[in-house]
Amino acid sequence: MENKTSLSNLGVVVSVRGSVVDIRFDEHLPPIYSVLLTGLEKQIVIEVLAQQDARHVRGIALTPTQGLARGMAVEDTGGPLKAPVGKAVLSRMFDVFGNTIDREAALSDVEWRSVHRAPPSLARRSTKSEVFETGIKVIDVLVPLERGGKAGLFGGAGVGKTVLLTEMIHNMIGHHKGVSIFCGIGERCREGEELYDAMKEAAVLPNMVMVFGQMNEPPGARFRVGHAALTMAEYFRDDEHRDVLLLVDNIFRFIQAGMEVSGLMGQMPSRLGYQPTMGTELSGLEERIANTDTGAITSIQAVYVPADDFTDPAAVHTFSHLSASIVLSRKRASEGLFPAIDPLQSSSKMATPGIVGERHYGLAQEIRRTLAQYTELKDIIAMLGLEQLSPEDRNVVVRARRLERFLTQPFFTTEQFTGLKGKLVSLKDALDGCERILGDEFKDYPESALYMIGTIDEAKAKEKSIPPAVPAKPESAAAKSGLKDAAGLRAKVAPEPQPNAGAKPPLKLEHAGGSHES
Ligand SMILES: Nc1ncnc2c1ncn2[C@@H]1O[C@H](COP(=O)(O)OP(=O)(O)OP(=O)(O)O)[C@@H](O)[C@H]1O
Ligand SMILES: [Mg+2]
Repeated sequence: MENKTSLSNLGVVVSVRGSVVDIRFDEHLPPIYSVLLTGLEKQIVIEVLAQQDARHVRGIALTPTQGLARGMAVEDTGGPLKAPVGKAVLSRMFDVFGNTIDREAALSDVEWRSVHRAPPSLARRSTKSEVFETGIKVIDVLVPLERGGKAGLFGGAGVGKTVLLTEMIHNMIGHHKGVSIFCGIGERCREGEELYDAMKEAAVLPNMVMVFGQMNEPPGARFRVGHAALTMAEYFRDDEHRDVLLLVDNIFRFIQAGMEVSGLMGQMPSRLGYQPTMGTELSGLEERIANTDTGAITSIQAVYVPADDFTDPAAVHTFSHLSASIVLSRKRASEGLFPAIDPLQSSSKMATPGIVGERHYGLAQEIRRTLAQYTELKDIIAMLGLEQLSPEDRNVVVRARRLERFLTQPFFTTEQFTGLKGKLVSLKDALDGCERILGDEFKDYPESALYMIGTIDEAKAKEKSIPPAVPAKPESAAAKSGLKDAAGLRAKVAPEPQPNAGAKPPLKLEHAGGSHES
């Protein structure tokens, strides 16, 4: 760390309980957020969070407290936690203290700024709305992101948040003219390292900064790493007038770290054990992610949803800060429909005719309506079978299932394990595809022809490549299996419902006209 100590203010450790350290200062009591150094090699960093009385402060250690003992000397650095800012931070990787962790040459020519800063005032904020294209069909069509907005990727464990975030980085960084800052909070170190290697390989590192406080670090470090990353982002926005892309994996871990700190400090927990100050802490961070007339910070944040419960206070609080919420559903992931975005639960404030235009808006509404109707019909299909539906309803099912398949997309970042080449699709192509499916142009195509493709024209090419043994008309096939699917991933996709084959997809082997469940 840069801030060197003013030797004048010395204290002494009076108690150590895990990460919580009480220190006595006889002369000058350090203010809140002061950083103190202690330990034999001054390697233990403590942030003051409370002044207990006239002589004592209580702080939380941002490093492990091994070896710390009562009576040890403590130095007051005379300032808060600081982050390095300046051009020199580009292409580097940092920890919460601003130490470089990429084994490259030491930093020179940087300025150090406090990580505790106020959000820009209302008067400085900019209010224009512009769409930010990602090249991912389902996002661009149904949940358009806002340039300078905040988007959240919500999902339980292992539904694809990190994969989707990495794909967005891949798609956007190349043609994003500004600076990108990746902040890893409380996730796996392995993922950070993989991302660093991937960025290096893609040669986008020169415009990128990475800041990590991963799951192996103490709660204090995970709690502050987001602020450190934001401080760097604010420098690029305010001083260099550049647009910044701030990517966070995972903002829930920030809330969780705050909960740990709060618990350690002995505060009474609030709902579901969360800290009573969760709302304030989260807004303190989120409100700093704002657009001003000089530059914009666009942020995409992964949000872990504990136990897939979207009413969890952490998820609810986060929702309220975002301009677009992308919800990943476990059900779709289990069906192999990747990205597993649930369009009916996801929303974006950009999806209005004034911003995206009448045609896009109309199409998006029509898609949502079709998918919603299909969801309602699912129960009837499960109980009575597809043939009990009216012809119109059957058409809705056909369209909805084709839309669902068309809105899947192979990712560049998953090429190794899906064996499919990644695809980037322009908004225009994505809209055209949806329009043509809604116009029933593909109703005689097998659903599989629309699965994991880029533009809709690929469906035609794919249909031809399907071996002749498999009938082109899906409805006539009594047993539609995953055999024709090149990718192993494909076998996971639920088979198309057969009008004559009874209720649920697993009954697909029954003969036409066979018995139904009722
Ligand atoms: N678009 C996709 N295509 C194919 N497979 C995917 C895709 N997205 C996710 N997966 C599968 O899901 C797995 C978990 O994804 P990921 O690591 O992104 O989950 P996560 O939501 O970040 O989980 P965690 O909460 O544990 O961090 C991946 O390893 C991959 O097998
Ligand atoms: Mg993850």
